[in-house]
Amino acid sequence: MSDAPDPPDGGTGEAVAGARDILARATRVVVFTGAGVSAESGIPTFRGAGGLWKTFRPEDLATPEAFGRDPRLVWEWYAWRRSVVAGCRPNEGHLALARWTLGRGGVTLVSQNVDDLHERAARVVAPDAEAAVRAGPVKLHGSLFHDHCTRCAHRQAGGAVDATSVATLPHCPGCGGLMRPDVVWFGEMLPAGEIEAAFASAAEAEACLVIGTTGAVYPAASVVHAARSAGARVVVVDPGPTEFDEIADVKLCARAGEMVPLVVA
Ligand code: OAD
Repeated sequence: MSDAPDPPDGGTGEAVAGARDILARATRVVVFTGAGVSAESGIPTFRGAGGLWKTFRPEDLATPEAFGRDPRLVWEWYAWRRSVVAGCRPNEGHLALARWTLGRGGVTLVSQNVDDLHERAARVVAPDAEAAVRAGPVKLHGSLFHDHCTRCAHRQAGGAVDATSVATLPHCPGCGGLMRPDVVWFGEMLPAGEIEAAFASAAEAEACLVIGTTGAVYPAASVVHAARSAGARVVVVDPGPTEFDEIADVKLCARAGEMVPLVVA
């Protein structure tokens, strides 16, 4: 008999125990998250039924060319997403990961998400601000809640956006250039420090926990393949099919908010 609660649908007790064992034995773990970890917080994913890319075209909204053509439209979309996400809260998956990262050490959290929910979870569970930063993620795709200047690269916290016209969009307090969302768009490079940190943690990980991502977007998805090539065992938590299923040592077809607290307990 185990004290662990029954697993939610999609994970047999044996598979959950196997995943827990892989994660508990590993001295170093890289956790790789995508939009699915935030689905139970009410934030839409990108692909699949109800995904953002079913309703909106990335070419119109998430490329530098789209911003060059119509910055007002792009800002309107990001301002809408900012307001949706601002009204959401970290779920049990985010909170369990933050507690685990703080409690055991040796965990690097790498996220493709721009919703800042991992950071907010870290602030909820950490005893102080310094610990909250330690439990926060390496952010491969930037943040919905920051802007940067298209002219001088000045970066600042993003506030409310009036997308009535180009003139009302946020402008740089230093050089007057047009500000843009501080997120990585299709065709752009990932931030060098972050991708370096992600691959460094993958290279030394003995286990890789992948949560809520189809694994369709590169180079981010390479972090998981790099960890696997370096010998890490791979655990995937996702209710749907992913590009990582074939390399997973354990696949748990379950929602993050229910399953993550069980496997990192
Ligand atoms: P996707 O929308 O491609 O994948 C979301 C994954 O979450 C799918 O595999 C779903 O099955 C899974 N999922 C849904 N609900 C879940 C739940 N409750 N618990 C766990 N998993 C769940 O999103 P990403 O893989 O994150 O890029 O997309 C990668 C990148 O593509 C994003 O970072 C974004 C997007 O274009 C940029 O913004 C640059």
